Amino acid sequence: MTSIVDALQARVSSPKLCEPGPARHHVETLLRCAVRAPDHGRLKPWRFVVVEGEGRNALGELFERALLAKDADASEQKREKTKLMPLRAPLVVVAIANVTTSHKVPVMEQVIATGVAVQNMQLAAIELGYGAIWRTGDMASSSVVRKYFELEPEDQVVGFLYVGTPVGEARSPVAQDLESCVEYWGKG
Ligand SMILES: Cc1cc2nc3c(=O)[nH]c(=O)nc-3n(C[C@H](O)[C@H](O)[C@H](O)COP(=O)(O)O)c2cc1C
Repeated sequence: MTSIVDALQARVSSPKLCEPGPARHHVETLLRCAVRAPDHGRLKPWRFVVVEGEGRNALGELFERALLAKDADASEQKREKTKLMPLRAPLVVVAIANVTTSHKVPVMEQVIATGVAVQNMQLAAIELGYGAIWRTGDMASSSVVRKYFELEPEDQVVGFLYVGTPVGEARSPVAQDLESCVEYWGKG
């Protein structure tokens, strides 16, 4: 088994995904990893909608309605592209921050916790032999999508995690320099 430290440093997203997607027991593993995200106040500030198979067509239709609500004159090509977005992977997990506003834990922390849950799922998917990419785009903030999922004003669609079998060779992680983003205090 890969060490978590190696896995974190090697992690890359897979924009192109195909069948097979995770079997149901693997989907459950992803969700179990998601809900182990650090959760201040144990508020369980998340909700996950697992979209597979035909469910992706329903999500695509929702996306098309969202597009048309924003741009009634969208071209046929744009409509089709938008409708097909959920078909870019066998599995799409819609991660929603379903926050508690009447609590001392700030809403932002609850949204972050949901983001961490998404990251946990991505890493777990990779460890299980799949690829994944976290996407948002216009659909995450669309009022039509928000209404469909019955989001309250401070709730957020934190992302759509696309999961499947990566197409082609995995690329290498982009090298990052630490100097531009890290400072050390104290012991040198
Ligand atoms: C909150 C969030 C939203 C994102 N939304 C998109 C998106 O809509 N489309 C996209 O191509 N990448 C999006 N990304 C970035 C990809 O998930 C990915 O991190 C990026 O392509 C860099 O690749 P890497 O993860 O292999 O370094 C998003 C990342 C985060 C954290």
